[in-house]
Amino acid sequence: VTKGVILVGGPSKGTRMRPLTLDCPKPLLPIAGKPMVWHPLAALAQVPGLTEVLLVGFYEDSVMAPFVREAQREFPNIKISYLPEYRSLGTAGGLYHFRDSILRAPVPQHIFICNIDIATSFPFAELLEVHNKHRGVGTIMGVPVKKEVATRYGSIVHDPETAQVLHYVEKPQGWISNTANGGVYLFDKALFDEIKVAMDEKTARAAEDPLVVLDENLQLEQDVIERLAAAKKLYVYESKDFWRQIKTAASAVTANALYLQRFEKTHPDLLTKGPNITAPVYVHPTATIDPSAKVGPNVAIGPHVFLGEGARVVNAIILDNSTIDKHAVVVNAIVGSNSTLGQWARVDGEPEPETEVKGKISVSVLASDVQVLPETHVRSCIVLPNKSLSKNAANQVLL
Ligand code: GDD
Ligand code: GTP
Repeated sequence: VTKGVILVGGPSKGTRMRPLTLDCPKPLLPIAGKPMVWHPLAALAQVPGLTEVLLVGFYEDSVMAPFVREAQREFPNIKISYLPEYRSLGTAGGLYHFRDSILRAPVPQHIFICNIDIATSFPFAELLEVHNKHRGVGTIMGVPVKKEVATRYGSIVHDPETAQVLHYVEKPQGWISNTANGGVYLFDKALFDEIKVAMDEKTARAAEDPLVVLDENLQLEQDVIERLAAAKKLYVYESKDFWRQIKTAASAVTANALYLQRFEKTHPDLLTKGPNITAPVYVHPTATIDPSAKVGPNVAIGPHVFLGEGARVVNAIILDNSTIDKHAVVVNAIVGSNSTLGQWARVDGEPEPETEVKGKISVSVLASDVQVLPETHVRSCIVLPNKSLSKNAANQVLL
């Protein structure tokens, strides 16, 4: 038996996604027309023999419940539930707190665990294949990253022959490896014994050191994986497939494009075709698109969106209930819920750069309920909710 756990985080996470996450929690933010959490969930639902997926996070139950209900209907072959932490317990604290639920019968031999804020193909079958070849407790998906950014991730040093992890450091001070932790794991149920050891050690430290606070908070990366690597109980599967973090609005637009391109192979039924549509494009069935509007590539259009005559949308996410009036243009941007672009308005930006430059805005983001008045041009701006823009603006945050 195999189960899956998705670490969905909570309201204090994903702050770099503001203002989008002000009214939509990050796991539910639509990427390629589906909530972010749908993508790992749909991939898990394809794993042969997987019985159950548990979403673990510190959002209120009511935040995740509608999604869980809907997903349960869409994936009736697996059991889906949300386990709310009473407060942020860290990436291993929640696993430990809910160990009885996760290990409940049918008792899983293997557990896939993944982060939510990544866009990847979730190669679970490949991970399992590597895992079955060794006697380690876990297999971690490694991804290649550039040296300049390697310290932003968990760093993996491994033996290329045996795939054994020799050394793991979470977000090291200095460069140690170009193989990063991709945030997707396969563990034997013995993981829970390892977490218990880490928890007991923390308890012992807290008894000795008044500066160590005794709580249930524990990090999978620092407290468990670093130790597993030191004990040579961890192996790596090096993914060659696409992989990105989704931390910023710009990276959400990139993830949107990657997932739409992937849908061409995995879910062609979800994509829309047409004379003025350049694939891949997702259009929600309730959206209205004028036949003369030009859409794509890499565009996702949400529920009840209206696109007027001659409107143009490229590399963008348009959230629910927004209106893009006649001849308005959206390029490299996210348009939030209930926003309006007047006739001939233009909201554009640069595509996400390979390495983000601090303080420089690339992709434009309109939060919810923003109005861009006719003929107004907004370039590389972040616009907060309820703003009405009548003047051109570039490279600024509009409060
Ligand atoms: N349930 C729960 N509780 N989930 C959490 C908590 C928590 O307290 N804190 C974080 N998460 C979830 C996040 O939602 C996300 O899915 C995942 O855990 C990791 O988030 P972060 O702790 O913010 O780490 P990170 O994204 O900066 O780095 C992690 O991912 C990288 C790959 O994207 C690490 O695992 C790195 O090693 C890795 O390279
Ligand atoms: P996550 O993004 O989900 O981790 O949570 P968050 O958005 O709440 O994180 P936050 O915005 O608090 O950023 C976490 C820390 O990472 C902050 O100190 C940021 O300055 C820093 N940070 C900003 N950009 C990056 C980046 O591209 N990579 C990394 N590793 N850290 C960054």
